[in-house]
Amino acid sequence: MPSCHDHLPPVDLDRVSAVSILSGEHRVILQLLTAIEAMAASAAAGHLPAADARDAIEVLRTFADRCHHGKEEEILFPALEAMVPGFGPTQVMRAEHVDGRALIAAMSAALAAGDAAAYARAALDYVDLLRSHIAKEDDILFRIAQQMLSPAEDEALLDAYRRVEHDDMGDGTHVRMLGIADRLAATYGVARASDDPRIMSLLTAVCGCARA
Ligand SMILES: [Fe+2]
Ligand SMILES: [Fe+2]
Repeated sequence: MPSCHDHLPPVDLDRVSAVSILSGEHRVILQLLTAIEAMAASAAAGHLPAADARDAIEVLRTFADRCHHGKEEEILFPALEAMVPGFGPTQVMRAEHVDGRALIAAMSAALAAGDAAAYARAALDYVDLLRSHIAKEDDILFRIAQQMLSPAEDEALLDAYRRVEHDDMGDGTHVRMLGIADRLAATYGVARASDDPRIMSLLTAVCGCARA
């Protein structure tokens, strides 16, 4: 996405930081979105892959929304808003999280009703929304945040992330979600984000649970 923030360096994925952890998680969410796009195509052709679609929704709710968006909304965004009162970009991102939750609910309702066409519509709308949302965070907001946060501030945010992973999510949840995402990737012929060692080390940096 061309923007006025292109002069800022991209998120440094070789260094564990408050933004690189989230960018690493974006790669897993993008992997899942590609699998969901394939599920939507199947549903639009008349075959609703209900079990896989339910598994994808579990990962969206637990990993993408509760764990990932939770860290953004409860930890990173408030830190940026405290530094720059009235900071606008985080308000836009929060509103898109709300829109995403509505589309997850629509996918879930369509699945419960066995309505393949409605599932395909909600799933494709969700894929579009989240791809654009992730591009805005990676290319604009996180580049700005990377410049704003001092090493000490960054370390404090990483400590808060560790508390989310261990206390709120429970040990092992992160790994279980990655396992489902990777199984869906294998089913739908999608490359796995965790095959990139930089991404794998970011995914386990605050989680602490190594994958078997
Ligand atoms: Fe977000
Ligand atoms: Fe994000």
